Amino acid sequence: MTVSVSQPAPLANWGGNKMKVFIETYGCQMNVADSELVASILKDRNFDLVNDMDNADIIIFNTCSVRQHAEDRVIGRINNEMSRKRSKKNLKIGVIGCMAQRLGERLQELNSSIDFIVGTDQYKNLPEIIMNLFENPKFSSNTIINNREIYEDLYPIHSGKYNAFITIMRGCNNFCSYCIVPYVRGRERSRDVKDVLNDVHKAGEQGFKDITLLGQNVNSYNFNGINFAELLKRVNKIETIRRIRFVTSHPKDLSDEVIEVMAESEKVCEHLHLAMQSGDDEILHKMNRGYTAEHFYNIVQKLGASMPEIAITTDVIAGFPGETNEQFQRTYDLMKKIEFDYAFTFKFSPRQGTKAAEFNKQIPEKIRLERLQKLINLQQDITSKKYKEQIGKIKEIYVEKVSKKAEDELSGKSRDFKITVFKGEKSLIGKFVNVRITNAVGWTLKGVLI
Ligand code: SAM
Ligand code: SF4
Ligand code: F3S
Repeated sequence: MTVSVSQPAPLANWGGNKMKVFIETYGCQMNVADSELVASILKDRNFDLVNDMDNADIIIFNTCSVRQHAEDRVIGRINNEMSRKRSKKNLKIGVIGCMAQRLGERLQELNSSIDFIVGTDQYKNLPEIIMNLFENPKFSSNTIINNREIYEDLYPIHSGKYNAFITIMRGCNNFCSYCIVPYVRGRERSRDVKDVLNDVHKAGEQGFKDITLLGQNVNSYNFNGINFAELLKRVNKIETIRRIRFVTSHPKDLSDEVIEVMAESEKVCEHLHLAMQSGDDEILHKMNRGYTAEHFYNIVQKLGASMPEIAITTDVIAGFPGETNEQFQRTYDLMKKIEFDYAFTFKFSPRQGTKAAEFNKQIPEKIRLERLQKLINLQQDITSKKYKEQIGKIKEIYVEKVSKKAEDELSGKSRDFKITVFKGEKSLIGKFVNVRITNAVGWTLKGVLI
């Protein structure tokens, strides 16, 4: 009988020194979580993670493709940083993430000095790709989609100080007609419930008391019949943590069961991000969102009825192809009626390869911008009103840091995700305290420690 002994993977070394890597992240929380995963993969193979680009032998840009603006921004940044290669000959610059996945080797046409391109399912191959580059400095690319890759057994290096992202699923099957995500992140797959629970427990032990469960549509989590409501119940029992949040929820899949579990689970925060996208049924249908404006409104009502203190935030797109003035007005009116605590508003950006990019009646840029500005103005007034309504309330704050504006003030977040500033000793950082809200300035609450 022959016994095969697997060789340990080689460690990264360059002239006897550890290779130093700097990662710069763009895009949503999924990308932040992926950078934390990549950091862990590289550290395991003896790379040194540095916080300063000047010290790096390898610079990695983890990119986003969701709107054209996101791509333009990162390309501008990469082009700027290429000048570093003149003074540091062996410097390698690579691109990973959604834009790497979308464009693959075509990225080289935008900048021919990029050394490597790695897609969202190939991060485990990054150490080899980089080490090979130092032996054989030839452009390298791997953007193969692997719809089964879930990065099990890997514990990320959390980059936050007190809040940790825990990925519970990858990919998306919804194919909203405007969205590039399903094309760059592949099919939806859920992580093993046991791995999720272990990671949450570990994050709590490491001092991250506020955890966010992550996925493009967490409400469709399913691992061997365990659904999202059940997962939430189990996470709520983990003693090492104190607060639970989750993003993103999809209105078509947010069940009554999940709302009930949210309301009865003491650690689940009174805070939900629920993307509305539009307030018009025809536009919602063309977006392939799978719900009506009325359904969306009813969910918001249910959430408010079961958790009166809940803060709801949303995403809205202005100027979707074919959107008439009346249809836009319905979006405006629904936002006004619901009064979200905050709204991320975007003008429609056509993404090549998605259905909406091919729809007739694309809305001119000028009108998209005008509509966007109307939504921004409306939401500013609503947010400011909502924040003023907090005055007089006592809120539990998870203290994160010294405030940027004053040395003797601390800053932290409430359960409903509002930044709150108050006078206090630095020793309170990392602790939970109660604060009476006395004022609201912009998007910040001010208060006094009680
Ligand atoms: N999966 C999440 C959901 O469905 O709520 C959000 C994913 S996406 C990363 C974040 C937001 O970007 C979306 O909710 C949408 O409002 C916006 N978005 C996506 N594609 C867009 C596009 N082509 N143009 C403008 N905004 C877009
Ligand atoms: Fe994009 Fe829709 Fe998936 Fe969200 S649910 S990531 S908007 S396709
Ligand atoms: Fe996120 Fe942008 Fe990718 S929003 S999933 S990083 S396209």
